[in-house]
Amino acid sequence: MGGVTVVVLPDEAELRRRVGRLSLEQKIRLLTGADFWALYAEPEVGLRRLVLSDGPAGVRGESWDERDSSANVPSATALAATWDTGRVEAIGRLLAREARRKGVDVLLAPTVNLHRTPYAGRCFECFSEDPLLTARLGAAYVRGLQRSGVGAAVKHFVGNDSETQRMTVDVRIDERTLRELYLAPFEAIVRDEGAWAVMAAYNGVNGSPMTQSPLLRDVLHGEWGYDGLVMSDWTAAHATEAAAQAALDLAMPGPASLYGPWGDALLEAVGKGAVDEALIDDKVVRILRLAARVGALAHPSSPPGLPPAASSPAPPGLPPAASSPAPPGPPPEAPDSVAVAQELRATAAAGFVLARNDGILPLPRSEPADRPGVGRRLRVAVVGPNAEVARTMGGGSATVFPPYTISPLDGLRAAGLHVTYAPGVTSHLRAGEARAPWLLRPDRLFDPGTGAEIRFLSESGELAGSELRDGATFIWLSGFAPSGVTEPVATLEVRCVIRATVGGEYQLGVSGLGRYRLLVDGAEVFDAALTLREGADIVEALMRPPQQLAPVQLAAGQPVAVVAEHDVHSSPFAGFGTLMQLNLVPPHGTDDEEIAAAAALAADSDAAVVVVGTTAEVESEGFDRTTLALPGRQDELVRQVIAANPRTVVVVNSGAPVLLPWAQDAAAVLLSWFGGQEYGDALADVLLGDVEPGGRLPMTWPASEEGLPSTQPADGVLTYHEGLFIGYRGYDRDGREPLFPFGHGTGYTTWAYESITLDQAPAGASGIAVCVQVQNTGSRRGREVVQVYASRPDSAVERPPKWLAGFAPVDADPGEAVTVGVLIPDRAFQHWTAQGWSTEPGPFVLAAGPTSATLPLTARVEFPG
Ligand code: BGC
Repeated sequence: MGGVTVVVLPDEAELRRRVGRLSLEQKIRLLTGADFWALYAEPEVGLRRLVLSDGPAGVRGESWDERDSSANVPSATALAATWDTGRVEAIGRLLAREARRKGVDVLLAPTVNLHRTPYAGRCFECFSEDPLLTARLGAAYVRGLQRSGVGAAVKHFVGNDSETQRMTVDVRIDERTLRELYLAPFEAIVRDEGAWAVMAAYNGVNGSPMTQSPLLRDVLHGEWGYDGLVMSDWTAAHATEAAAQAALDLAMPGPASLYGPWGDALLEAVGKGAVDEALIDDKVVRILRLAARVGALAHPSSPPGLPPAASSPAPPGLPPAASSPAPPGPPPEAPDSVAVAQELRATAAAGFVLARNDGILPLPRSEPADRPGVGRRLRVAVVGPNAEVARTMGGGSATVFPPYTISPLDGLRAAGLHVTYAPGVTSHLRAGEARAPWLLRPDRLFDPGTGAEIRFLSESGELAGSELRDGATFIWLSGFAPSGVTEPVATLEVRCVIRATVGGEYQLGVSGLGRYRLLVDGAEVFDAALTLREGADIVEALMRPPQQLAPVQLAAGQPVAVVAEHDVHSSPFAGFGTLMQLNLVPPHGTDDEEIAAAAALAADSDAAVVVVGTTAEVESEGFDRTTLALPGRQDELVRQVIAANPRTVVVVNSGAPVLLPWAQDAAAVLLSWFGGQEYGDALADVLLGDVEPGGRLPMTWPASEEGLPSTQPADGVLTYHEGLFIGYRGYDRDGREPLFPFGHGTGYTTWAYESITLDQAPAGASGIAVCVQVQNTGSRRGREVVQVYASRPDSAVERPPKWLAGFAPVDADPGEAVTVGVLIPDRAFQHWTAQGWSTEPGPFVLAAGPTSATLPLTARVEFPG
């Protein structure tokens, strides 16, 4: 075994010495990004360019481009549903390898805001409604990244729990709720895991925008002893002096001539004494410390300008200041390698929640013999729009471009079943991105490649550059440099061929902002100005931009040359970014016709698998949901398929809860989230019983929209009226029944909860160890998540009826009994008071079981007065 080399990172004194070598101008330059994703290099102090990237569903890198692909890991809700810190830490390590492969130093992840309400557009990107589950999984994700030498920027600090007016809203949260719920995951990750960066949110909390909030200096720095960096969310910093004083270290993006409140304005503020230079020095120290941690700062002994020394990971348990970047090591796997695929496939399956199963699952591979000894392959009707084009991730900055995606249809076909398919309904309200088999790139009409050619034209109409693309969505953030075009661009010209499969009416069009012309075979079809709805977020412009469509009649097999032109300067966001998408809707039946066809297919099959779900227009950053109902007529589709064939399994492909009014009628309901690029293979593994559906709900799954907190501010203010009572805390208090309770999920075996005892916490940990014995009483190996909830009978303090205090996954063979230790931290018994954290003297009850609603074992803990 090779020894571990620990490289000592520069200490505070060394960092300050380096800062001392810089002029005020040099220092202030470092405090705003150099461009959209990177910080400035400063050779004078051995600092190289440091690169940031979104997160959290993969590592996108510096461009928004399908040719620069990234491993697409399951959504945070899917990861949370594993309740497995080891697995999430492994995903952190996988992402660190991706980051290294793509030259990224800090991942803008994890998102540890809470599911205050399922309406929140970014629920899929956050782990849970519960702060303890969020904290444990968020810490595991950070550990995986940082122990591999890649920084985590934990976001969005704090109160960014919904999207509506997120850039300006002032969120009002009472102090106790803020501490016990919304700050709790940040506190645990900063204190226990030593996060290297935190992202300050757009919104304000209790009167101060988060980039200038006293919570930064007083709580993050003061109470939690945070020595990492605070960066702004993109364009969230506005006030020169207030942000400088409030312990914001880095304004993103840059450069300061285009974005943010610093640059020359900050130089002037320091010059006139309004901002102390010592504050600037402290920010630069934090930037250099982050750089040292990720390996972007030359070793103290290297002369200025030399590349950083190679180093090795810190041994587990070392405090962050002494941890150090990973060694170069073997080259990271490609995002389409077998190793990555296997890990993503197993992780997706581990998060699938089998919410209901009357015994239909796992499906057999073949039906009983028609003739003695000869079974035949199971005939499965696969139904639903998401079965063919699955959502593997949510929309917004979390978007990555996977090298491939396996749809449910692909996965079930590859598993060897006899599969037939019917889409059933159209769930998109808008036209989808043009895609194969209709969209062809002009240079490869006869191979299966899809895509388009883009030409960049200058003001004078000269060709300034061109490129061949593999998709039909094109986004450039701040300039066309990622496409190799540096001179000013006035017009974009996108050329492709659309070839009809069947004859009929095709809808062709574009999405974007500003002026677009569409020509088909040289004839203008439209010349339209597309404008965003009033008050829309910039990310809404990227995720569901306005569209213009036109009907075009095509004969079967007919190709047409399509050109879409965009006047770049006509977009209101021209300075920020440019966007264009080609859209296509092929001829299709009415929903009534499609539902009837799907039901007929189901009736003629041994079983049906209906994949319902949301779309890119529904779950995304930039806007909240206005309804939890499935889009389109998917509920009707499910009902008709169940009526046609009672052996119907419904698979839900959403990142967050949707209403399932037919749930009790389906033979099985599998909640499968946004499952990442290996989604369809994982689904086949679980449906056929090769793999256990390991997930448990990380949120309460509502039966209706009644009683859920709203995301809609009033006069710019969003008050968290429900206080401590979000998720199961609110359902329990009000006695409301959800469809599926927090923590719910079954597997392919059964469990008995046999005994509970209390013990000391293991050495090095504080708290109580709850030892729970469970036995696998079924006939196959399985996985259970032992959950422990605390409650306080007759409390003098207002509290939720119960709250999650600890959990541990356990695997066991048939008949095997296992005792698992669940660590309950001291904090689980504390509540926030005007004097700080306090433990109410007297008895607490700890109850263990398989879900928050079924807790057969209890024990008492007494705290002296
Ligand atoms: C999002 C962040 C993201 C950043 C950079 C913002 O709009 O809120 O989560 O990291 O953009 O893409």
